[in-house]
Amino acid sequence: MRIGEGYDVHRLVEGRRLILGGVEIPFEKGLLGHSDADVLVHAIIDSLLGACAFGDIGTHFPDTDMQYKGISGEALMKRVLELIKDYEILNIDTTVIAQAPKLSPYIAQIRNSLANMMSLDVGQISVKAKTAEKLGYLGRGEAIEVRCVCLLKKR
Ligand code: CDP
Ligand code: ZN
Repeated sequence: MRIGEGYDVHRLVEGRRLILGGVEIPFEKGLLGHSDADVLVHAIIDSLLGACAFGDIGTHFPDTDMQYKGISGEALMKRVLELIKDYEILNIDTTVIAQAPKLSPYIAQIRNSLANMMSLDVGQISVKAKTAEKLGYLGRGEAIEVRCVCLLKKR
């Protein structure tokens, strides 16, 4: 079995949609990025690649490459699942650090969306939300950060 760790952060700005785990969350700001900036999917992808020692999201999908401009987290995830197809995903555990918006009303929908995207049972995917207790750049609502671990088994 192999453990993987993933991390991502994106800046929160006006005029962008907020997409987490493939779910659009109503909020006055959204995440800035070359892609759809789905910080949750990006952190999960890095944990999956990390578990296999396959590099990271940037080595496979450079943000300087125009073909990935605006690409959805789901489309990136499909490619990553193909890369790691020799491994079975046992479980994924994530923490989303966001001062706002309140995510608890959307957690079930986000877990379902990720389960669908990855062809997993919802019980294999955990999504937890924390504020940053108003501390630092996360606490000032300047960004949303995600940490993730996963466990994989060779097929
Ligand atoms: O109580 P503690 O300091 O550990 O956590 P918190 O950051 O104050 O968050 C309390 C609870 O609010 C969390 O357990 C989440 O269920 C929820 N939460 C949320 O729904 N959306 C966020 N953006 C942050 C926290
Ligand atoms: Zn990202």
